[in-house]
Amino acid sequence: MLKTIKYSSGMIAVVAFISFSAAASEESPMNGNVANGKKIFTEGKGAAVACMTCHGETGWGTEAMGAPRLANLGYPYVLKQLTDLAEGRRTPSGAGAVMPLFAQQLSEQDRRDVSAYVNSLNSPPELSDLKALKEGGQPIGEKYKGQILVKFGVLGKVSACQSCHGYNGRGAAPIFPVIGEQKFTYLVNQLHNWRDGSRANDPYGMMRAIAKNLSDEDILDAATYLSTAPRTTPNTFDNTNKTEKAQ
Ligand code: HEC
Ligand code: HEC
Repeated sequence: MLKTIKYSSGMIAVVAFISFSAAASEESPMNGNVANGKKIFTEGKGAAVACMTCHGETGWGTEAMGAPRLANLGYPYVLKQLTDLAEGRRTPSGAGAVMPLFAQQLSEQDRRDVSAYVNSLNSPPELSDLKALKEGGQPIGEKYKGQILVKFGVLGKVSACQSCHGYNGRGAAPIFPVIGEQKFTYLVNQLHNWRDGSRANDPYGMMRAIAKNLSDEDILDAATYLSTAPRTTPNTFDNTNKTEKAQ
C-alpha cells in the first residue's frame, strides 16, 4: 500500500507501507465509543486497573510512574500501541511492565473505545516540573541544546525530530506521535529503550536508527526541551504579549 503523509509544514512525503499494523488501516474515521472508553479509563476492566490510576484523571501522565501523557496524543498512535502491547510487540520494563497484560484485557473494540476517549481529553497541559525533578536529583539537560536537536538534528548523524514529529513534536498523525508536552521521565525512558533496542515496535526501525546516534546528554537535552515545548508559537501579533495556545 502506498500512503501519502501530509506534514503540517505542507511538505508531502510518500512512504511505502507493508501492512504495518492494524492501527494504520483504522486511522480514520475514528470508530471508538467514547462513553465505553471513559468507563474503561476510569474503572478498568477485568485484570486491567483503571487507566487513570497511572495516566492521571486528565490523561496527562504521572512523572513518578514513568506513565506517559495519553491526552490528545493521537487516536491511531494510541491504538497501535495498545495493539502492539496486547500482541507482544512492545514489552516495557519497570512500572509499565503491566501494560501488555492490561491491553490483553481489552477487546479490539475496547481498545478503539479507550483510544477515542483519551484522544478527546484536551484539558490544559500539566507539564513536567523540571525544577522539582532536578531538586530530587534527576539530571536535567540543556533546553537550548534540545531545541537545536529537535529543530535541526545533527548534520550527518541525527535527523531533526520535527522532520517526522512535526513542529515542536506536536505530532503528525497517523504515524508520528506527539512528543511535545510529553512527560520528561517517559521521554528519557523511551529514548533509552529505542537506543538499546528493548523497544522495537517502530515501523522500519525509524526510531532505533535515530536513537542509536544519541548520547546520554542528547537524550536529556531533547527530553528537557520537548517536555515543555508548546505545540503552537506565541501569537506574535498579540501586543499584550500573552502566549495563549490556539486549540
Ligand atoms: C500501573 C500503572 C498503569 C496503569 C493502571 C495503566 N498504565 Fe498504561 N502505561 C503505564 C506505564 C508506566 C507506561 C509506559 C511504558 C513504557 O515505559 O514503555 C504505559 C504506557 C501506555 C501506553 C503507551 C503510550 C505511548 O505513548 O506509547 C498506552 C497507550 C497505555 N499505557 C494505555 C493504558 C490504558 C488504556 C490503560 C487502562 C486500561 C492503562 N494504560 C493503564 C502505566 C500504567
Ligand atoms: C524518520 C522519522 C523520525 C524521526 C526523524 C524521529 N522520530 Fe521519533 N518516532 C518515529 C516513529 C514512527 C515513532 C512511533 C513508533 C511506534 O509506532 O511505536 C516515533 C516515536 C518516538 C517516541 C515514542 C513516543 C511515545 O509516546 O512512546 C519518542 C520519545 C521519539 N520518537 C522521540 C524522537 C526524538 C527525540 C527525535 C529526534 C532526536 C525523533 N523521535 C526523531 C519517527 C521518527
